[in-house]
Amino acid sequence: MTLQIKSLEEYNKEYTKSVENPEAFWAEQAETFTWKKKWDKVVNWDFREPNVNWFVGGKLNITENCLDRHLEERGDQAAIVWEPNDPNAPTKTYTYKELHAEVCKAANGLKSLGVVKGDRICFYMPMVPELAIGVLACARIGAIHSVVFAGFSAQALADRVNDATCKMVICSDYNNRGAKNIPVKKVVDDAMALGCPSIETVLVHKNTGGSVKWSEGLDKWWHDTIDHQSTECEAEEMDSEDMLFILYTSGSTGKPKGVVHTCGGYMVYTTFSFNNVFQYQAGDVYWCTADIGWITGHSYIVYGPLAAGATTVMFEGVPTYPDAGRFWQVCEKLKVNQFYTAPTAIRALMAKGDQFVEGYDLSSLKILGSVGEPINEEAWHWYDKKIGKGNCPIVDTWWQTETGGILITPLPNITDTKPCHASYPMPGVQPVLLDSDGNLVEGNDVEGLLAVKYPWPSMIRTTYGDHERCKNTYFSMFENMYFTGDGARRDKEGRYRIIGRVDDVINVSGHRMGTAEVENAINEHKNVVESAVVGYPHDIKGQGIYAYVIANQEVTDVDAFRKEIVAVVRKEIGPIAKPDMIQVVSGLPKTRSGKIMRRILRKVASSDVSNLGDTSTLLNPEVVQEIIDNALV
Ligand code: PRX
Repeated sequence: MTLQIKSLEEYNKEYTKSVENPEAFWAEQAETFTWKKKWDKVVNWDFREPNVNWFVGGKLNITENCLDRHLEERGDQAAIVWEPNDPNAPTKTYTYKELHAEVCKAANGLKSLGVVKGDRICFYMPMVPELAIGVLACARIGAIHSVVFAGFSAQALADRVNDATCKMVICSDYNNRGAKNIPVKKVVDDAMALGCPSIETVLVHKNTGGSVKWSEGLDKWWHDTIDHQSTECEAEEMDSEDMLFILYTSGSTGKPKGVVHTCGGYMVYTTFSFNNVFQYQAGDVYWCTADIGWITGHSYIVYGPLAAGATTVMFEGVPTYPDAGRFWQVCEKLKVNQFYTAPTAIRALMAKGDQFVEGYDLSSLKILGSVGEPINEEAWHWYDKKIGKGNCPIVDTWWQTETGGILITPLPNITDTKPCHASYPMPGVQPVLLDSDGNLVEGNDVEGLLAVKYPWPSMIRTTYGDHERCKNTYFSMFENMYFTGDGARRDKEGRYRIIGRVDDVINVSGHRMGTAEVENAINEHKNVVESAVVGYPHDIKGQGIYAYVIANQEVTDVDAFRKEIVAVVRKEIGPIAKPDMIQVVSGLPKTRSGKIMRRILRKVASSDVSNLGDTSTLLNPEVVQEIIDNALV
């Protein structure tokens, strides 16, 4: 197992070593894994290209590390504990032996359908065990998975399938989500109807049962394909830098991009970080409430915990079903030791009242985690007091889809914790603050743009099919730096506090969205001429979506117009992107070069109009007052 830091002294020592001699540090971690062939060189890198290679020449299969290597020592230990949406339905446990067998069967099933190394396989599935099994089955045979969160629309799914020219979509028939039964296969059918020429098979897992439309030749049942397969499947030999998966995420411009992670470095870093951030001990039950549709689920439900030989909980449901006590009921039932969730969930549950927490025995909890967005002070204290009973350190983990793993975080019971502070870099991570000209902002009690000056093993390698985009987005802004898109403060003691995005990306309920993406969706409405979307502070969601819309005719029924716009956004992207506020305006404040002055729109949406700055240089300063007068907040 990788190093597990146990004291502040050790953290300081290892951190220093990881900076002074990164190759030796990471070689030590990597040596704890099963390699088919050892690497020739620990790292080769050049941020200008960017070209980053870890464990160069090494050969491995990540599933041998997540499964096979545990069989002897902990084959009968629970690997995945699956908790269903319905609190009265039985919990399902897969031991490492069982999971190994299921993954091999699924891998053989995929092979029988012609899937080979390098093929892209899209998943559009709820949180059922078959999603984890399927993803691992891909990794077993060297197919590249692209998991699409099952809340995205048919259009969004089709866009992602086509961008990666996927050969197959794996989905469920229906999905249980709270009181709802969601027709998942129907969305896939709609995506196929929009045109996905590369898809040869839609593999359907029968989850809830219920009728589905069937396309002979295209559609195949999971059980028909997989149930009779052998429980042994040799793991494909993968190069350290072969692609493991693609995961789409939003940026400030254009369509979502496919972030590419590769096998060796991702494995080493997710395991190392899991092991240290959650201080996992043998026998612990670890629960991350994320969805596998996001990076948190990839790194800290599936790969990190399994490679570390942990027991990882997978939850099908939602935090408020059947009531706002569900998380705590599950913590009590499964005796969860490490609990990892998002601030938006904490805020939503906090708002429902303490009566939903009281009465549950949460004494098994040792460590609490937070991820995805800044956690505000009030939520932090509630989490600390009501859930952790003041005894569980909170790890406020900062990272991104692109970073693959947690980069800045407290280490529980090792470094201190402070509300709203992600705090300290992980060993091997070298963050810096920069001013807008790219100069280093040194010392403490300072603020700047957050960048990283040295590679870490799980960092983004490219954006699928468009390497230039990767270069322009992350590596062109500042020379020889990975730029995160976030602004941060370093406090007097050197702790990092993430302030939030400095680009046109917003974070709604921990879901990352590009404002341009939402605008493009809104503009699909036939009566919309132009729109501008900004984030605004929202009590539960962290940020809400505020859209300013210009119509091509007088809007007589504003409510109906808003509903139509929301429907268009749901169709183009999915319900997670629907605007909370839609203000119809006669114009948008623009500079003389035609650029929308978002700064003004952000201020109005935040009801902070006392200091709008100089608006006299605008092309149309008169619209500013109109926008303020009709603001919805
Ligand atoms: O703005 C930061 C915010 O989420 C962004 C990354 O989003 P995504 O790629 O979807 O990954 C989320 C899960 C890792 C970051 O650029 N963010 C993430 N974690 C934190 C955070 N902001 C503040 N504090 C955090 N702990």
